[in-house]
Amino acid sequence: MENLAEKTRKDFPLFSEESNESNNLIYLDHAATSQKPTQVIEKLVHYYSFQNANVHRGAHQLSTKATEAFEEARNITGKFINAYSSREIIFTRNATEAINLVANSWGDSQLQERDEILLTLMEHHSNVVPWQLLAKRKGFKIRYVGITKDGELDMNDLRSKVNQKTKLISLLHISNTLGSCNPIEEISRIARNVGALVLLDACQSLAHLPINVNSLNIDFLAGSSHKLCGPTGCGFLWAKESILETMPPFLGGGEMIQDVSLYESSWADLPFKFEAGTPSIGEAIGMGAAITYLNSIGLDEIRKYEKELTKYLFHKLEKIEGINILGPRPTEINDRGALVTFYIDGIHSNDISELLDSNNICIRSGHHCCQPLHKYYGLNSTARASLSFTTTKDEIDLFIEALNTNIQFIKKNS
Ligand code: ALA
Repeated sequence: MENLAEKTRKDFPLFSEESNESNNLIYLDHAATSQKPTQVIEKLVHYYSFQNANVHRGAHQLSTKATEAFEEARNITGKFINAYSSREIIFTRNATEAINLVANSWGDSQLQERDEILLTLMEHHSNVVPWQLLAKRKGFKIRYVGITKDGELDMNDLRSKVNQKTKLISLLHISNTLGSCNPIEEISRIARNVGALVLLDACQSLAHLPINVNSLNIDFLAGSSHKLCGPTGCGFLWAKESILETMPPFLGGGEMIQDVSLYESSWADLPFKFEAGTPSIGEAIGMGAAITYLNSIGLDEIRKYEKELTKYLFHKLEKIEGINILGPRPTEINDRGALVTFYIDGIHSNDISELLDSNNICIRSGHHCCQPLHKYYGLNSTARASLSFTTTKDEIDLFIEALNTNIQFIKKNS
């Protein structure tokens, strides 16, 4: 039976055998950004070729076509995460903007000096810095949930830090560095006990497992198109309609208003109240095509295939002498992300990724926008290989072989 990689690689121009550009690249940096299938590229080309017009503005036929395609993308996005209504989907530039929207609208209007919010030590900077900026203005306290020695979220620490002052728990679903998958349903139950809301940064999970905002019982979800096989320049915020209704606008300008006078304005209905200015129209339509593509493969299938690949990668990587791997081992029951972050004693991770690049193998090195986590482990930099449903076991074998050769080369020459 053909596996998912065999079935899907033909959809990606970068991986096609006739691609001269790619030099048979082995791309193991899907957590930084995913590759784009023809179905998405063609949708973008079609929009810019035949549907290009501004949305919700003109009475002319081209604007109607663009608006229909744009709103269809909103419906697709809403259904993907089981939103109650597409009015709950706000298109943003990226997931970072979605979190900034929540901080500057909900947070600015609701959080007071006596309040606390909980983040975790494994957060990406996009879920740290917006809250720091707001806390400086509003005076509330940010508390961090720690990590167990296995690289999982420390749930005992979380329980001990949730109290009547906690107004929000904002955390990622799957860590882009540790790969750990946080138990969101349980965290939402704990939050509900004290009336706190939950914001989920789903950037590293949306393209890898099925997500249902109702069963997760969360209040906000931030997602990013480019990590979903979609274009850059687009992301989205989902939030419960009842919460969005109470939130003041984030950015002001055209499109988000109902009526403007010289000194007063009133706001458009949801979701437009939060979409000031001309949106990323083609990119949102492209994101809709990317979600349709992922749905056609099936998120359960993707999850199953990537789980097996991650176990394979781990098994091979663990055998390398002097390697240190961050995060939990993959098991039958955990939903560990399809990525492995590691460092080798005595070797800088940039040297590893540069040498691998000379073998046409792309991995990421650095702090992966997770400096607090790296500081916690006393590290400046790590290397990360991240997989997708297009990754093959042969690619993993070639990566491991090249890694071993490069380690020997560096050791011999240092
Ligand atoms: N957050 C992205 C990463 O993990 C960019 O690489």
